[in-house]
Amino acid sequence: MQEKKIKDFNSYKKEYERSVKFPEKFWEEKANNFLWKKKWDKVLSWDFTKPDVKWFIGGQLNITENCLDRHLEKRGSQIAIKWISNNTDEPNRDLSYSQLHKEVCKFSNVLKKNGAKKGDRICLYMPMVPELAIAVLACARIGAIHSVVFAGFSAKSLSDRINDANCNILITADGAFRGDKITPLKHISDEAMQNTPSIDKCIVLKSTNSDINIKSGRDVWWKDEMEKVDKNCTAETMDSEDPLFILYTSGSTGKPKGIVHSIAGYMVYTEFSFRNVFQYNEGDVYWCTADIGWITGHSYIVYGPLLSGATTIMFEGVPTYPDAGRFWKIVEENKVNIFYTAPTAIRSLEAKGMEFVTPYDLSSLKVLGTVGEPINEDAWHWYDKEIGNENCPIVDTWWQTETGGIMISNLAGVTPSKPSFATLPLPGIQACLIDENGKELEGNSVEGKLCIEFPWPSMARTIYGDHNRFRETYFSAFKNKYFTGDGALRDENGMYKITGRVDDVLIVSGHNLGTAEIESAMDEYENVCETAIVSFPHAIKGNGVYAFVICHEEAGNPDVLRKEINDLVTKIVGPIAKADKIQFVSGLPKTRSGKIMRRILRKIASGDSENLGDTSTLLDPSVVEEIKLGSL
Ligand code: PRX
Repeated sequence: MQEKKIKDFNSYKKEYERSVKFPEKFWEEKANNFLWKKKWDKVLSWDFTKPDVKWFIGGQLNITENCLDRHLEKRGSQIAIKWISNNTDEPNRDLSYSQLHKEVCKFSNVLKKNGAKKGDRICLYMPMVPELAIAVLACARIGAIHSVVFAGFSAKSLSDRINDANCNILITADGAFRGDKITPLKHISDEAMQNTPSIDKCIVLKSTNSDINIKSGRDVWWKDEMEKVDKNCTAETMDSEDPLFILYTSGSTGKPKGIVHSIAGYMVYTEFSFRNVFQYNEGDVYWCTADIGWITGHSYIVYGPLLSGATTIMFEGVPTYPDAGRFWKIVEENKVNIFYTAPTAIRSLEAKGMEFVTPYDLSSLKVLGTVGEPINEDAWHWYDKEIGNENCPIVDTWWQTETGGIMISNLAGVTPSKPSFATLPLPGIQACLIDENGKELEGNSVEGKLCIEFPWPSMARTIYGDHNRFRETYFSAFKNKYFTGDGALRDENGMYKITGRVDDVLIVSGHNLGTAEIESAMDEYENVCETAIVSFPHAIKGNGVYAFVICHEEAGNPDVLRKEINDLVTKIVGPIAKADKIQFVSGLPKTRSGKIMRRILRKIASGDSENLGDTSTLLDPSVVEEIKLGSL
């Protein structure tokens, strides 16, 4: 049923060429391997100026039949999801493909019973437990659009996202274990639901056994509801271009963008990229350590692996609990073959020392992967030597929430790797670099802004409720090109290295944060007058958050003030957005037109205040001297 994988460098080159010359034929072949209720009439129509991109037009399908039903005959008893608890004294749970299918069907009926209909938006604010994957798939089965909100976000972030998409159901849990802490998800949800008039029903899973409030008429228990429904549920017939999900990501303005992905293209691309990048073989145990609250979890914990009939591990906990050997213990105990994580995790575990690695047998590993941020050479070599025993190809996968799937990466053991380089685009991905003047850079050994000049099946279709912003953000910088927001260089062999964001988005511990989002949260503090956020190099997190803050009145104890400002950021955005350093200043370097010159602040925050470049356009250059002197 599945297509053969690309097996050597020459066939990669041939496939790549074919995918550029005959993209429609190329993707049609891949799409033919899925279960369709009706095949498409036309493979592709596109116009990047509107933008309007459609794949497999006229096709009808349900993605869950491809994730679940079609596997039942051959691998009904194979483990689909291997769940590992945060708590070492709690048993793990295995769900076979047929068990997962049954749970998804039942929960689909629960959703319908609670009023969910095709096209509704359903918000999921859940711990990393199998029920999260079940709820995601159940939404897809009934044709509702899932909007998963990472369980580390605040009540305010949750209600903003619920309101933006006008969700009518919220699925949550009493709490989420995270190392030795519990995040009180239902309390946070209750606070959020005070401001979400669209929510009719809240379905609550018991996970941590925490005390919670149940509002009668609105809140129902997951378990009670599951006992009342039938185990059969026919999958809704969906059009190829119907939306599958919304996932929020930070942008250059304060308001997060609800990135919308549609069904068929996302399905075809996540399966294709999963099998080829990781060189997945039937029977492999695969583990991606991300959270389903991020795109990596959507595409490479849930959809890609299940579409491929793989066994996917879901881990509830954190890498350092109960100690920094947790990842490697899980690898040993579950004989993990493919391991996919973030550079931040690698750096932090490296820093803990080899005594947490050597006790474990890591010989089951065949392929290692990284995602979310650039991996520095040191961390790459440590990963290669100490985890991979210099015997496992490392795939450095560059992609984005908006791209839906991996775009630039080596294919494990098939195409060459190069430390700190994402290397070559996948077949079907036409990457290019654009210079300062908007001209495409030809040839090799060049550096510019990274764009994609032809549609690929899993590209985002819009920003929920704001198509103008979608066009402005991604399609207006350069004509007929998707602009990624990243800078990159292409070396003498045509290999890509991502050099970092070129806009106002920061990548901190592999998470996307908008400077404006943090600034407006800090500005809410009563004594704060104005803030400027920049990133600075951080040994573990890749980038840290550096805040320059102007206060109305002189602060008493600056450390108390710093803590209070960060507490407010945690409350408004979430703990991931807290500043690592807060410097109080009396002014910010602004141009005469009032624009903050972040370039200067970035240099100072990076400890490079000697080479500030041209400061002559500043309204008041003396402010720079003061900031330099006070830098942390
Ligand atoms: O800057 C790039 C960085 O993460 C951004 C996308 O963030 P997000 O939408 O949250 O998705 C993260 C997981 C796919 C990109 O614009 N990024 C992602 N992967 C890499 C990377 N930077 C360098 N190397 C990577 N492998």
